Amino acid sequence: MITPILLCGGSGTRLWPLSRKSYPKQFAPILGEETLFQASAQRLQGAGYGCPVVITGSDFRFIVTEQLQAVGIDPGAILIEPEGRNTAPAVLAAALHVAKSDPEGLMLVAPSDHVVPDAEAFRAAVEAGCTAANAGQLVTFGITPTHPETGYGYLELAEPPKSGAPVPLSRFVEKPDAARAAEMLADGKHLWNAGIFLFRACDIIAAYEKTAAQLMEPVRNAYEAAQPDLGFLRLAPEPWGGAEDISVDYAVMEQADNLSVVPFHAGWSDLGGWDAVWRESEPDARGVATTDNATAIDCDNTLLRSESERVELVGIGLDNIIAVAMPDAVLVADKSRSQDVKKAVAALKEKS
Ligand code: GDD
Ligand code: MG
Repeated sequence: MITPILLCGGSGTRLWPLSRKSYPKQFAPILGEETLFQASAQRLQGAGYGCPVVITGSDFRFIVTEQLQAVGIDPGAILIEPEGRNTAPAVLAAALHVAKSDPEGLMLVAPSDHVVPDAEAFRAAVEAGCTAANAGQLVTFGITPTHPETGYGYLELAEPPKSGAPVPLSRFVEKPDAARAAEMLADGKHLWNAGIFLFRACDIIAAYEKTAAQLMEPVRNAYEAAQPDLGFLRLAPEPWGGAEDISVDYAVMEQADNLSVVPFHAGWSDLGGWDAVWRESEPDARGVATTDNATAIDCDNTLLRSESERVELVGIGLDNIIAVAMPDAVLVADKSRSQDVKKAVAALKEKS
């Protein structure tokens, strides 16, 4: 049985004004009726999967329970972080939780803010990784890169992939600089890391002991002193505060020597900006995507989203534009500047 571990802590500033500090993007219905978090939990349901373990911040605990209940999913546990310390402490806490009942239990660590349109293909990829994971490998999922992205991890294949089977990795490079990313795109030996991992609890704990030993004591102490509270498990604040703020990619994956990848060719997007949302919104023949209260007149390659029934949004003669209207904030941006939305959030923070 595989225990889904849903990481649910980031704030997603690049999708402002829809994604807010108090209501990050994973809890919003960005594509379709379900929220990204609900879709992520649903993707990991069915034969072979146990109840999900969610790890999140205190502010989001009731959103998590409400959203799971709304889609009829029972959480196995909801671990509450006293403060966000990035993904390495979060994954370790979840691993200690799984190991408590089954040290050899398989865990599928997944972000809760991605889009994977073909859930069946994704579950097939996970299944393809199980034998390697049961043999002690840390299994990643690899996406064919399309541009020299610097915000992703890169997986260097040790040998050419055979259809669907896991391939050993010779290296994991997290967030390279632009020149290195361009080299890795060009050499054809690299895939993007999807940010999804499959391993046994005992193997990931052993990997932390080897390369991130400084996290063991604070995270173990925080887990062992955790307080049950209204169905949540609150990690103890004092030891947790002593855990280094670092991602699992830097703390463990870049240094591990037992990595494999399952190449994944069905769709995947981490919705890292409004341009990605536009792409995933099934734009029409002229490249236009609109929501219910938005109208495009003679526009091209444009996303118009009204997130309020009370706000009608109309675009005329636009090309390559993102417009997002909320009841209290409006974003209008050139689509090619989608990554600069985080600058808007920083500027607004400074003003307040
Ligand atoms: N519980 C918890 N606590 N979750 C967190 C925390 C935290 O402190 N920090 C981040 N997360 C969650 C985010 O909400 C997201 O769902 C997931 O963990 C990954 O964190 P990101 O901050 O989004 O990582 P990234 O996008 O920079 O990089 C990762 O994903 C890329 C693909 O999208 C890496 O794994 C890259 O290698 C990968 O290419
Ligand atoms: Mg991300």
